[in-house]
Amino acid sequence: MVMSLFRLATSIPGVRSMTRSLFHVPSNSSIQLAGLTFNNRVGLAAGFDKDGKYIAPLAYLPFGHIEVGTVTPRPQAGNDKPRLFRLPADRALINRMGFNNDGVEALVARLKQYKKVKTDIIIGGNIGKNKDTDLELATDDYIYCFEMLFEDVDYFTVNVSSPNTPGLRSLQEREPLEFLLGTIALANGMKKNPKPIFLKIAPDLHFEQLDEILEICRAHNIDGIIATNTTISRTELKTPESHINAIGNGGLSGAPLHHHSTEIISYIRRKMPPPFVIIGVGGVMSRGDAEEKIKAGADLIQVYTGFIYEGPQLVKALARLQ
Ligand code: FNR
Repeated sequence: MVMSLFRLATSIPGVRSMTRSLFHVPSNSSIQLAGLTFNNRVGLAAGFDKDGKYIAPLAYLPFGHIEVGTVTPRPQAGNDKPRLFRLPADRALINRMGFNNDGVEALVARLKQYKKVKTDIIIGGNIGKNKDTDLELATDDYIYCFEMLFEDVDYFTVNVSSPNTPGLRSLQEREPLEFLLGTIALANGMKKNPKPIFLKIAPDLHFEQLDEILEICRAHNIDGIIATNTTISRTELKTPESHINAIGNGGLSGAPLHHHSTEIISYIRRKMPPPFVIIGVGGVMSRGDAEEKIKAGADLIQVYTGFIYEGPQLVKALARLQ
């Protein structure tokens, strides 16, 4: 509702210029990564604008990049409602949206519209599989989305880490991941101008699994990792356990995820020096949180839950990060 109102408001020229000047950050901190120029270090994480409906209004905020999706080949409704819960005491969310989206064709059409007024914000395309596609055929779904989106995004994120599509996270295992990333890298390599490919991982992996994933990334020249998606863990929450149990399944995001996702970033950076890109996401609720992730080795930061709780001021503060 807020985004629809914001979109309406920014269609009025006066409000548009006011928004622009309120959130203006001088762009003296642009960064080159994987052949792309990011205006600053902060991006909007996947899942917020799954269908690319709000890119134009979001572009009035000082995001250096916006990741649309997760998108699937065919439209799908996602899980039954309620499927999104606030945990204010923990400054967290639990969601089991289940990749509700309008399908890749609708997203492509919106991206083409947006391109007509395109600013210099980097647009990432986060791709996944339909719920009813067999896991053995998952690669076909990713490749379909990859080919459809190729002309209209600046980079791709291969999402194998959402907890709300049954079996999806098993694509992080060696054999299916080899096949998936190998096939995408091959398709990308056949393009005249290949696009950067990032892999988005779960925070619920053992370090041995992480090692395996990094080895596969190296073998297929994957450009970087987005660490991390939401967690299925429910430890150390202030919200009463009875309330948490009543909510049920889903991925937890926000403040309780920050520390662990930062640990994962440190681990990856120790194994994968630059130019391997690390995009740090998970519980960035303040500038200090973002600085910790950068210190741990992240090149860029993404926000979702922090944007919900703190609003556009958080984006402005993060856009100033050096
Ligand atoms: C998400 N996230 C997500 N990630 C993804 O790769 N594809 C998706 O479709 C979604 N959808 C989604 C919906 C909702 C409601 C939330 C809260 C989150 C995960 C998101 O991009 C991010 O990785 C995590 O939320 C952790 O970051 P924050 O929220 O703690 O900043």
